[in-house]
Amino acid sequence: MMYKIALLEGDGIGPAVIDEGVKVLNALEKKFGYKFEYERALIGGCAYDDCGKPLPESTISIAKDADAVYLGAVGDWKYDTLPAELRPEKALLGIRKALNLFANLRPAIVFDELLDASTLKPEVVKGVDIMMIRELTGDVYFGQPRGIETINGERAGFNNMIYFEKEIERIAHVAFQTAMKRKKKVCSVDKANVLDSSRLWREVVTNVSNQYPDVELSHMYVDNAAMQLIRNPKQFDVIVTGNIFGDILSDEASMLSGSLGMLASASLSNNTKGMYEPIHGSAPDLKGKNIVNPIATILSAALMLRYSFGNDFAASQIENAVKSVLKKGYRTPDINYGDTSKTSLVGTTGMGDLISNEILSL
Ligand code: NAD
Ligand code: IPM
Ligand code: MN
Repeated sequence: MMYKIALLEGDGIGPAVIDEGVKVLNALEKKFGYKFEYERALIGGCAYDDCGKPLPESTISIAKDADAVYLGAVGDWKYDTLPAELRPEKALLGIRKALNLFANLRPAIVFDELLDASTLKPEVVKGVDIMMIRELTGDVYFGQPRGIETINGERAGFNNMIYFEKEIERIAHVAFQTAMKRKKKVCSVDKANVLDSSRLWREVVTNVSNQYPDVELSHMYVDNAAMQLIRNPKQFDVIVTGNIFGDILSDEASMLSGSLGMLASASLSNNTKGMYEPIHGSAPDLKGKNIVNPIATILSAALMLRYSFGNDFAASQIENAVKSVLKKGYRTPDINYGDTSKTSLVGTTGMGDLISNEILSL
């Protein structure tokens, strides 16, 4: 079976982490005879530099044509003064919308080996396994009207936080169906005490929950959720929330696992096509230094195998290899905490090599 993967490396550390992900997929090809075919396309700042557009049509068609999209990250400070439509980040929103990737799964899993890397106490984070489900194509990210205009002689910036019933319904179904395969608990996070958009969110999620009597549904305001995530993260199984709250809470949740460089993501539609990317950004401060952690990107490849290619076995090969390399004490700088006399510091490429070799030898 041949799988076609669109490789969108992007900017900053994007190419470096994607290189390590591909290295790991190569190891799977070598060991188990899978066939992955790659087509590269530009997205973000590099695409803007190339053709004046952060999301060229050719990139969209390559992504549409592939079985899955594997993406690094976009953005760099040097593009921060561009008009909104030309910014690299706009391309990311554009491709999510073009592929209708409305469900973003961001698993926050704490590896026992990294308990010391978290800034929280080991007893608080040990065993954490949260599936954060973020709605990805709606909310204040896409709502109209938006802009910066002069109103009563003064400039005003505005965005529209808006959710349509059907958008809430479909992400709620994803959350309940995911929970059915886990601990059967969904916590829906909103700001229904203040926002109308959240009041509708809560009502619709509650209605959808009637179709899943085995799943326990709770609701939490987002400010409390931000606190509960670091007070007692083990209370959560599946969290479902809107686009902006999910963006913020998932970066927060990454620190339970020790580093932003550990969290993978899958962006899914209602078919098997998906886009897989680390939740972190392009980290321009760390570009070219061979020190960033490629594990988030490597674990995103595991999610691609699981969700788009239906290959749980290959996905767990990657996950087990990551665990085993961490168990042997290898660490990139962002996760090198605790008793460092027992760990070995490695760079981005070193970590990728270790994980690939582990797959070959498992
Ligand atoms: P960031 O996620 O790039 O970095 C936040 C912090 O985490 C930085 O200190 C960075 O050095 C560190 N970090 C990130 N990834 C790491 C890794 N793999 N290993 C070790 N450390 C890592 O966010 P930012 O600094 O707020 O934004 C930088 C640029 O990235 C901006 O242009 C932003 O818009 C963009 N961005 C893109 C995405 C994406 O493409 N999905 C996501 C977030 C931010
Ligand atoms: C993410 C990023 C993006 C988002 C930005 C870069 C558009 O922060 O994927 O988490 O806000 O969705
Ligand atoms: Mn983010």
